Amino acid sequence: MERIDGKEIAARVKEELATEIADRARKGKKIPHLAAVLVGNDPASETYVAAKVKACQAIGMKSTELRFPADINEEQLLEVVDRLNSDVDVDGYIVQLPLPRHLSEEKILSRIDPAKDVDGFHPLNAGKMLLGLPAHLPATPAGIVELLARHGVKTAGKHCVIVGRSNIVGTPLSVLMSRKNPRANCTVTLCHGGTTDLKRFTLQADILIVAIGSPRFITADMVKEGAIVVDVGVHRVPSTTTKSGYRLVGDVDFDNVAPRCSAITPVPGGVGPMTIVSLLRNTLQATTR
Ligand code: GUN
Repeated sequence: MERIDGKEIAARVKEELATEIADRARKGKKIPHLAAVLVGNDPASETYVAAKVKACQAIGMKSTELRFPADINEEQLLEVVDRLNSDVDVDGYIVQLPLPRHLSEEKILSRIDPAKDVDGFHPLNAGKMLLGLPAHLPATPAGIVELLARHGVKTAGKHCVIVGRSNIVGTPLSVLMSRKNPRANCTVTLCHGGTTDLKRFTLQADILIVAIGSPRFITADMVKEGAIVVDVGVHRVPSTTTKSGYRLVGDVDFDNVAPRCSAITPVPGGVGPMTIVSLLRNTLQATTR
């Protein structure tokens, strides 16, 4: 069993991005600037936004974190979005999800200037992605495609089974993995909470990608011998063996599934770091366009 080291691969991509940004700086061109909007204090969102800001710093990209209380109203948040749209120094920005329930994600995301929508969540970018037109691609799906390609996984002609149909991961990934190009060209099955006899499908997967949001949901009996497994989940579970009292696990029961796989991504250190580098790449692209 091989470990697909997202941390190491992301570090390489970051070096490439840092070189490009340093090049721009030498030529007197604009330094890319990513802004991140964080509403409330969901601990997971805080961690993700902090990691994104830290990654910007590491590659010489400018970043701004904009924090607002959980009780900000929709009008006020839309004003923030409008301000970022017209701020010529900000090349790209994200609104960290999930938002508090009283705010319509659809309304907020639709207000983002598609050119600055480096998460690829605006309907225009989502539609362009679906049609295969140039667009900002959503960070996690694009990161997974990059991860598989850089690890040297041959995807063409393989059966890729995706578990989870979210707008952020599963649904766009089903589109990207079925695209006609050498980094994809899979036959895709999209499974979800409504799938009857899930195991019947997961057992057919040459490449199994899991983004269902449930800790250790995929067990060894659901995975074909020799499969490649990509785990998108991140969950804190209590642990007696760590100082913090918890540890991170994914949507896959790693300890029991890994021995069956030809390759598998760990949690942490698999998909997460790749999501961040996709966001950085999108921001650099937004600057150069
Ligand atoms: N919440 C979970 N994943 C993401 C992501 O990729 N972008 C944003 N903005 N929020 C998220």
